[in-house]
Amino acid sequence: MVTLAEIIKTKKSSFDIESPILFTGIYLNKNLTPKQKMLDAEFDGALSSAITLEGFEGKAKKELQIYGNDTVKRVVVIGLGENKDYGTDEARAIASNISRYAQKLEAESFTIDGESFGLKKLPYAQAFTEGLALGTYEFNTYKTKEKDDVKVTSATITGDIDKKSLDKGLIIGQSVGFARDLSNHPANVLTPTYLAKEAKKVADNSPKMEYTVFDVKEFKKMGMGAFLGVAQGAKEPAKMILVEYKGGKKSQKPIALVGKGLTFDSGGISIKPAGKMDEMKFDMCGSATVMGVLKAVAELKPKLNIVFAIGSTENMPDGNAQRPGDIVTAYNGKTIEVLNTDAEGRLVLADVLSYVNAHYEPEAILDFATLTGAVLIALGNIASGVMGNDDTLMKEVKKASQTSGEKVWELPLWKEYCRAIKGKYADIQNLGEPRLAGTIAAGAFLKEFVNDTPWVHLDIAGTAWGPKEPTYHPKVGATGVGVRMVYQFLENRK
Ligand code: BES
Ligand code: ZN
Ligand code: ZN
Repeated sequence: MVTLAEIIKTKKSSFDIESPILFTGIYLNKNLTPKQKMLDAEFDGALSSAITLEGFEGKAKKELQIYGNDTVKRVVVIGLGENKDYGTDEARAIASNISRYAQKLEAESFTIDGESFGLKKLPYAQAFTEGLALGTYEFNTYKTKEKDDVKVTSATITGDIDKKSLDKGLIIGQSVGFARDLSNHPANVLTPTYLAKEAKKVADNSPKMEYTVFDVKEFKKMGMGAFLGVAQGAKEPAKMILVEYKGGKKSQKPIALVGKGLTFDSGGISIKPAGKMDEMKFDMCGSATVMGVLKAVAELKPKLNIVFAIGSTENMPDGNAQRPGDIVTAYNGKTIEVLNTDAEGRLVLADVLSYVNAHYEPEAILDFATLTGAVLIALGNIASGVMGNDDTLMKEVKKASQTSGEKVWELPLWKEYCRAIKGKYADIQNLGEPRLAGTIAAGAFLKEFVNDTPWVHLDIAGTAWGPKEPTYHPKVGATGVGVRMVYQFLENRK
């Protein structure tokens, strides 16, 4: 979890605030700001002498620490690099390093000279507190030691900074932490039932949210044959989890956020090789993104209508599991040949997407899924793959991704690619051509279930866990990818 719990904003001078550490930023080869000069004077020139003595130039990733007085125990000067290279993502990364620095010193709180880090600009203020929060992220639930050290819980930010942006950044950072936690739990703990309970908990605490869940027992009579096919081999009962948030006008159609929630993907009868199969507990990261946004929305209450939808099950081999070659009928009536039971995410999403599309007539749909290994071949773990059927919506997603620093790269869904999923015995099949454009084939498959509703699919199989850069990512485990971007997307729509 993110241990940072509060941001205090104050117009007091940073050297008047009692604190174990005060952080202040300096651009490359720039003089001290007037406030930093006052701070220096307070310490009888100790700051400027240390800067000269150490030849500190303000290079990015460099820092300088001096000991202060009884009020401010230490001052740490952080190099920001060249002013022109200091964007919001740099601010986010630097902030996460600051939290880690404080955590190493077991400081419960610290002070930030807000203006020196460019926080007068609202997007910087938000990105910075996101970074502060993410820098305190830890997942120690299952470690019997390592729990007792003092945690960073509070940061005080000085200067004329927008409090709302600071708080929003903290809430979004905490929501990313929530998504990471859900993803990091092992599959013997985080089951579809657990996920449903977590969604209910958030919804129950928010008067504008309504929670519904459908159990696997209901899938057959509901006509969700594709989801059922995947779920039938699992002992853990599958769930379709829905939360409606009504923050906008009654007449306003909702935005739908749909997540793949495979709490474990063994591959089913088309079983995966043993190496790294443990990582398939992360096959619910798409649903974790949806849950993270759910939490952020519950707290920030944007004036929008939103439907959150999750298809959650395990994919297991069993006497009752579906076989390669089985033909199933999806909620929208299309028949599907299941050529490989490991291409299960698209089968689950086929039913959830068509259910959401039919029941809520959403204005737009975004879906998140760890859908293909192929996206790792195409984009590595730097960018998520995005595909869609509507240029305007795609532009909105790209714009939000630029603000949030979560990279996306579009792959085409041209009709030439879409032919690959035509079925031999049924309408469509759950595989494209062997080894060719696997990520696009999966996108082309999903496209069959959204009709003309503007839709963007994000394949996060490469970005949901593993990448250690930028530094606000954890050293191991889930990243909570997408939560920041989606909240930004929603905000741009308000
Ligand atoms: N959950 C996997 C995709 C995946 C693989 C995510 C590796 C992250 C890392 C998905 O259900 C899957 O198994 N996809 C198959 C599809 C194939 C059978 C067409 C894949 O990518 O190999
Ligand atoms: Zn699979
Ligand atoms: Zn999967």
